[in-house]
Amino acid sequence: MCGIVGYVGKEECTQILVDSLRRLEYRGYDSAGIAVFEDDKIKTVKAKGKINEGLVKKLEQTGTLHATSGIGHTRWATHGEPSDINSHPIGNGRVSIVHNGIIENYRELKAFLISKGYGFESETDTETVAKLLDYYYDGDPLEAIARAMNDIEGAYALGIIFREHKNKIFAIRKESPLIVGKGEGESFIASDVTAILEYTRDYYLLEHNEIAVLDESGIKFFDVRGEEIEKEIQTADWDVSAAQKGGYKHFMLKEIHEQPAAIKNTVSPRVKNGLPDFSECGLTEERLRSYENIYIVGCGSAMHAGLVGKALIEKLARMPVVVDIASEFRYRDPLITEKDLVVIISQSGETADTLAALKLAKQVGSDTFAIVNVVGSSIAREADMVMYTNAGPEISVCSTKAYAVQVAFMYLFAFEVAFARGRIDEERCRQLTNELLNIPDTIQKCIDNEAAYQFVASKIMNADSLLYIGRGLDYSLSMEGSLKLKEISYIHSEAYAAGELKHGTISLVTEDTPVIAIATQSALFEKTASNVKEVKSRGAKVVMICAEETAVDASSVDYKVGLPSANELLMPLVTVVPLQMIAYYTAVLRGCDVDMPRNLAKSVTVE
Ligand code: G6P
Repeated sequence: MCGIVGYVGKEECTQILVDSLRRLEYRGYDSAGIAVFEDDKIKTVKAKGKINEGLVKKLEQTGTLHATSGIGHTRWATHGEPSDINSHPIGNGRVSIVHNGIIENYRELKAFLISKGYGFESETDTETVAKLLDYYYDGDPLEAIARAMNDIEGAYALGIIFREHKNKIFAIRKESPLIVGKGEGESFIASDVTAILEYTRDYYLLEHNEIAVLDESGIKFFDVRGEEIEKEIQTADWDVSAAQKGGYKHFMLKEIHEQPAAIKNTVSPRVKNGLPDFSECGLTEERLRSYENIYIVGCGSAMHAGLVGKALIEKLARMPVVVDIASEFRYRDPLITEKDLVVIISQSGETADTLAALKLAKQVGSDTFAIVNVVGSSIAREADMVMYTNAGPEISVCSTKAYAVQVAFMYLFAFEVAFARGRIDEERCRQLTNELLNIPDTIQKCIDNEAAYQFVASKIMNADSLLYIGRGLDYSLSMEGSLKLKEISYIHSEAYAAGELKHGTISLVTEDTPVIAIATQSALFEKTASNVKEVKSRGAKVVMICAEETAVDASSVDYKVGLPSANELLMPLVTVVPLQMIAYYTAVLRGCDVDMPRNLAKSVTVE
């Protein structure tokens, strides 16, 4: 999704803006641009394509820009194709803006502005905001912004500059993320803190209806009435190395390797005296006993983590759990009541559909509990209760460690629900919690088995289509494995409940359709093994992922990927590693852009 940066200070800002935009590349984009104050003019350079091929080349042609403040943008096209004209910053020489989000009433605004004599160049919704600001501006930027905010409907984070207010940046937001960074004699705006970590770790979270004004004297905040307000400064506990590759070829590989540490950082602080402890967010045992149902809502990998959560809670706590895709949940009039708990899972804390689902649950009166990675994100701030998955920044679009910590969190949560509701006793809860605390060592062993995953990748890299099959917890993992493969290697794949295959999908199986079967649960092993035989007899090449000690039938399995031993219940945390690694090496062998797969965005802030 679009990324915003801005700089005001004493340094030449072009390079700072371009470098900061590079750190937002992971969000997904198809064009980039900057606008700076040069002499008494706003100078804009923008281009379709990646930063290096588009913007940087154009900047070289333009010659050095001499400026100490400006705004920048990476655009992920929604309204209008990727093109130079549709790229941001957008404006008319008097006002220039960068925007993340969607202006829902842009058609009405455009009609109104055309009636006032404005012409439009781009196909973007953003241009209506730039022109509206110009329309309202009569020397007082705060007033123009407040009046425009009153008219605009939709989601937005905006960085705004006015030619007549040299070296000043104005920033506002509603729904879409925006932070304001405070350095030594310089200040920044950015869509997220990773963009500016190299310069400062101190930042302010901008709230809805607040206006930030950055200039050489510092940062001021105002409400929509123009009254100055005080805000509390935050300090990011991520250092700059967390957002760098650190010797790995790709962020994805680095992040897979970070999983044992990330899980430790997530689980350990929530264990007190050997038992799960959720008191930091107010989710008491009494509360957990009071709920009739649990709903878990998220998108993509976060929703997949919820599926593991459902299996665990239902198994251990014997309590019904519904898992929903956020974009479905919000429009299907869900059966939630004030007696239910709605658990919202999100890495970014900014996914538009997930945020909307959370708001819906709050309206109905359900308690909402957010499990989020990005501190201070919209979902974290909106939810009644929040706990953070301390994974550190995840840069690769393809989620790995963020999913792993969400799953680890689901374990702790399931243990706590089961214990609070008297379904497991203290001893069992302690034993399970202890095994969860030790699982990072097993995951590390699994990561160390990299050669096996490279080998499997070399065997599937030329396939046009693949199937992942499994039962129970292994089926939930199949979905995550299939998603990883398709998003980064562009090989079509589907995940199927192994027993369901013969009701249609097995017709797709030929000798050219590899099947990855996951079978880590001994009670279901023979059942899955029978399904494997069914696909093998249709010619499929079969990869079986199972415990190292499990004996497999060599006549129906071509390649076995053995997993180090662990409690079977905890196996999903181990199994995910080969799934991630197989997807990773397949994408590498196929020459794909692993960290920034085509058409995808890390943080989906539009519905
Ligand atoms: C995008 C990302 C996925 C992620 C999903 C939900 O599609 O590419 O990796 O799982 O959004 O994002 P969230 O930030 O809410 O977890």
